Amino acid sequence: ASAAGPPATLEERSLEAVADYIKSGNARRIVVLTGAGISTAAGIPDFRSPKTGLYSNLARLKLPYAEAVFDISYFRNHPEPFYVLAQELYPGKFHPTISHAFIALLAEKGLLQMLFTQNIDCLERAAGVPADKIVEAHGSFATQRCIECRVEFPDAEMRAHVTRGDVPKCNECKGLVKPDITFFGEALPRDFSEKSHNTAMADLVLIIGTSLTVYPFASLPEMARKGIPRVLFNMEKVGSLGSRLDDVLELGACDDGIRKLAELLGWTDELDDTWRNI
Ligand code: APR
Repeated sequence: ASAAGPPATLEERSLEAVADYIKSGNARRIVVLTGAGISTAAGIPDFRSPKTGLYSNLARLKLPYAEAVFDISYFRNHPEPFYVLAQELYPGKFHPTISHAFIALLAEKGLLQMLFTQNIDCLERAAGVPADKIVEAHGSFATQRCIECRVEFPDAEMRAHVTRGDVPKCNECKGLVKPDITFFGEALPRDFSEKSHNTAMADLVLIIGTSLTVYPFASLPEMARKGIPRVLFNMEKVGSLGSRLDDVLELGACDDGIRKLAELLGWTDELDDTWRNI
């Protein structure tokens, strides 16, 4: 890439060119978009990978269709399947990956404009990414409330119910309690619409571990300005990535691609230290 700005020509659209662009100091506002693929290396299954994905391993829950487990109308009548899943996914037993550590390192270097995550595992927070730099577009397990009267439910009681695998009921109105995760059929947190403009002002967009199948999150990559590099770290090509001259496709395990970028930046030791200190 020319020192002046993002890689300008076809043959330059490589991870090397992206590293040069960051080193040139012209990529000061980096927006990162993540999905379940960033946490599979932590031991949390993603949703749609064939065989290993969550949606192909829910047969025991006898769901009408896989995504029902996160559907608000199905939950109202059948909350049990979600709570079977919650027992497996509940934060606390998983450790952030090297890719999570890289995002924390970007923030530490003052280069992270905003991280938008679709994940509910809170591993970004655990990795040390500042809360004001994280938009949990699909909410998280961090808090929970009654779906009828909206009264918040105590964390300790929630953890006890999830550990036992039973369904918590509101202490006020006996309504069903649900973590503040965005179910299908629910609106995304206000934070998402209020902060999505950050993608339009990004100098560089990194997209890590997502199939880009769920909207409106999947519309974020389109908000990147023309001429701004969009780098995909993913097992497979997804969304419109690859359609723009400045798109860079780093296909394969995201931790490998991220380590390669860190190496090109000369940040390998810092990245290892960041990860070791989480
Ligand atoms: N490295 C790189 N890519 C990976 C890795 C890995 N280690 N593991 C999985 N992937 C890729 C998969 O190939 C897939 O393209 O990550 C993507 C994960 O896609 P999904 O399973 O669909 O997860 P996600 O995109 O986060 O799903 C979006 O769907 O069910 C809803 O609300 C839920 O937030 C979720 C949303």
